[in-house]
This record gives sequence, structure tokens and C-alpha cells, in this order.
Amino acid sequence: MKVTGKIAVTGGGQGLGAALAKRFADDGARVVVLDLNAETVRSVAAAIGGRAFTCDVGVREQLDSAIDTIEDVIGPIDLFCSNAAIFGGDGSSGLAETPDALWESAININLMSHIWAATKLVPLMEGRGGGYFLQVLSAAGLITGPSPLSYTVTKHAGIGFAEWLSINHRHNGIGVSCLCPTAVATPQLALPAANEEDERIRAQVGLIQTPEEVADITIRGLAEETFLILPNERLGTSFLHKAQDYDRCLDHTARRVTAMRVM
Ligand SMILES: NC(=O)c1ccc[n+]([C@@H]2O[C@H](COP(=O)([O-])OP(=O)(O)OC[C@H]3O[C@@H](n4cnc5c(N)ncnc54)[C@H](O)[C@@H]3O)[C@@H](O)[C@H]2O)c1
Repeated sequence: MKVTGKIAVTGGGQGLGAALAKRFADDGARVVVLDLNAETVRSVAAAIGGRAFTCDVGVREQLDSAIDTIEDVIGPIDLFCSNAAIFGGDGSSGLAETPDALWESAININLMSHIWAATKLVPLMEGRGGGYFLQVLSAAGLITGPSPLSYTVTKHAGIGFAEWLSINHRHNGIGVSCLCPTAVATPQLALPAANEEDERIRAQVGLIQTPEEVADITIRGLAEETFLILPNERLGTSFLHKAQDYDRCLDHTARRVTAMRVM
């Protein structure tokens, strides 16, 4: 899908979503930015000549109501990008550090918001010949690594949902792309300032891309209607290795994650 002239809605008060919003606007889309944070969403939208909506996408009524208002006031949504996510602690957040309340937030924000948006929009889009969903997921949804438990599980589920949506609705004009970055320099990544120990952390994280770089790769992936958009090509190789030898991949990752934890 080319976004020029299209109505594109994206989460984006900061970070990757803000870069995507700007990239969509630069390519001539009419952009609507959604975010929980009223202040940042207004400033991102103002900077790109877009519209701002404050919305907690983890609450179904708020997301439904935002979509209704956008469709009524701005027009039919062509591209909906589900971008918001909570990280849910740090890499050591496991079973004991994931209370039910965190599971509930992570499931609602990182996963159900994708499902609720599609539930609302698919019939509307199909009724007018089609539409497109860009699901921002993560490398953590393809290969389990050092990310927190609730993040890892919800990102895997998000990929499962995106695959389902693509398979079941492509014949009615619904396109789906799944963006899976590895490490992007946004507030979520919260990289420490540089010192000797931080350099070791950065080396473990590997390639760190800018949000703008990832937004450029995304716009190309959307134009080609690629399902899996992988900004870091090494992830594709790792994913292939996982499929070829699942046990070896788990063994290798377990050693890597353990080494990171003892750093
Ligand atoms: N930064 C990375 O290294 C990285 C890597 C892989 C995937 N991702 C994915 O990219 C997406 C964006 O990440 P980011 O790094 O820009 O994160 P970020 O934390 O910098 O920004 C997330 C944005 O989501 C908003 N948000 C959070 N909860 C919300 C809610 N309930 N309703 C509406 N808005 C809400 C926040 O206000 C914020 O503006 C996420 O889905 C993330 O999982 C990021």
C-alpha cells in the first residue's frame, strides 16, 4: 500500500510511532496520531499537520470511540497502525515479577488493542473494498530472548493474530504487515549513557537503529505489501535458524540470556 492520499491512523506520541506518523505525512498521507499522552500526541500531530486523539488503546470502549470519531469526522480509515506497547519491566521480569495486573495491561495494550481495532475496522474496510493493518510487533515475538515475560508472550501472540488476519481476510482486500524491529533508539529502549559497562550492554543489544531508519524501511515494506517487515536483516537469518533447529536455538538463546543476566 502506498500511503499517499490515504487516511493513516497510528499510535505515536513518541518514539517509533512518532517517526512513522512523520514518514506517513511526508509521503502525503492524512495522518491521525493516537496516544495516551495528550501533550505529546498534540505536539507530534501539530508538527506534521495531522490530527491528534488522546486514547488509551488498552480500553476497548476508548479505542472503539476514537475509531468511530475518526471515521465520522475525518473520513474512512485506509491504514491502521497498532503501535503502542508496554515493556512490562526489565529483562529479568519473569514469573514472580509479573503480577496479574501487569499481565492484564500487557495483554490489553500489546495484543487486544490489535484485535479490537481489527474487529471494528475489518467489516467497515471490507464494505468499501479493503484496507490495511500495520501491526508493530517485535523481534521478541519471533525469537524469545532477554525481553520481559509479558512482553515476549504478547508479542508472539500479536504475530499469531496478524497471520490469522492476513490469511482469513486477504481475499476481501485486507492487507497486513507485521513490523518486527530488534532495537530502536526510543525512550522504550532506555539505553544508558555511555560508559565502559554500558558499552558491553550495547554490544549485547547489537544493531541499534534510529526510529527514522525503521520508518523508512517500513514505508518500503508497506509499498511492497510485505507481511514480515524486518528492519534488521540479521533477524531473518536467526528466525530461519530457529525454524531449522528449534532445540539448538533455545539452547543458544538460553546461554546468551544467562550471560546477559550475570553481567
Ligand atoms: N524501541 C525498540 O527497541 C523496539 C524494538 C522492537 C519493537 N518495538 C515496538 O515498537 C513500538 C513502539 O515502541 P517505542 O520504542 O516507540 O516505545 P515508546 O515507549 O517510546 O513509545 C510508546 C508509545 O505508546 C504510548 N502508549 C503506551 N501505552 C498506551 C496506551 N495504553 N494507549 C495509547 N498509547 C499508549 C506511549 O504513551 C508512547 O507514546 C512498540 O510496539 C514496541 O514494542 C520497539
